[in-house]
Amino acid sequence: MTMQRSVVLGCGSYLPSRVLTNQELARAVETSDEWIVQRTGIHERRVAAAGELTSDMALHAARAALANAKIDAQSIDLIVLATSTPDQTFPASAVSVQAGLGITHGAAFDLQAVCSGFVFGLATTDGLLRTGAFKRALVIGSETFSRILDWSDRTTCVLFGDGAGAVVLEAQEQPGTREDRGVLTVHLRSDGRHKNKLYVDGGPSSTQTVGHLRMEGREVFKHAVSMITDVVVDAFKATGYTANDIDWFVPHQANKRIIDASAHKLGIAPEKIVTTVDRHGNTSAASIPLALSDAVADRRIKRGNLVLLEAMGGGFTWGAALVRW
Ligand code: ACO
Repeated sequence: MTMQRSVVLGCGSYLPSRVLTNQELARAVETSDEWIVQRTGIHERRVAAAGELTSDMALHAARAALANAKIDAQSIDLIVLATSTPDQTFPASAVSVQAGLGITHGAAFDLQAVCSGFVFGLATTDGLLRTGAFKRALVIGSETFSRILDWSDRTTCVLFGDGAGAVVLEAQEQPGTREDRGVLTVHLRSDGRHKNKLYVDGGPSSTQTVGHLRMEGREVFKHAVSMITDVVVDAFKATGYTANDIDWFVPHQANKRIIDASAHKLGIAPEKIVTTVDRHGNTSAASIPLALSDAVADRRIKRGNLVLLEAMGGGFTWGAALVRW
């Protein structure tokens, strides 16, 4: 029986021009290029320019995705922006993107699931498209983590960066088999018992300040691989696919050691892993669409490929999706 699927029409990304290298960071805090590369695989990250907002970067990424999809902004009727670093407490940064694209119809809102934001945004959008309420959507991840970092804390400031990525999805009728194009399955999880292991120590209702990112890095690392592999196994079970069937593994780009350990545990061949964390650090909700855009631009990911996405982050939240390109 045929069914509605959310099919990817295109993707795009944006990185601010300012590159911050490990060597520069080592002049500001007690760290070294060698330590950062060995523990995380990160060589450099980007930092948004003064006055450059999360919505500005999201708009750049959205325009790049629309160009890649070869569609007009006016055909978009839903914008879901995943971010933990919105321009303001409200309105949602998504409405600034909507206005920037000159769209006055449909709906736009933000979604907050920290580093898992893009996978949560994909699941939300897929659900809304499949109801028939919307036809074409932009799912965007955009973050300015440079604004919530404590730049004197070497245990966190070396890990994160700024950037944005976007994907255009369209509701299309597909045959209703696992060979369909589009989002085949998405699995989301949260466990608030871990909420104090990775958090920001400020907010409108608690301190009336923006706050800074705080993290128990070792604790996050300890849970990351098992949470990621569990939820990916759920995605495999739901579709009957295995690690051997996937063409590309596009994980949240937090840390090369977490990525490699997860791929190893899942039995995913190293040559199928798309890694960009070396060039932009952990960009939270932006990292998956940044990596996707990279692999689409250099023609690794092609139409018909089976792509596995996963993420894990603050909350903890975590999730995985299988998408046929
Ligand atoms: N440079 C030099 N030394 C450092 C630095 C630094 N930037 N940061 C910490 N250290 C020191 C520590 O103080 C400690 O010193 P001590 O032994 O004298 O106490 C030593 O290095 C080892 O510290 P650990 O925290 O045990 O180092 P670890 O090997 O666990 O690596 C890291 C730290 C990279 C943060 C790791 O725990 C990690 O990757 N955790 C996951 C964090 C993450 O990716 N978070 C992103 C958000 S969640 C997500 O997206 C999945």
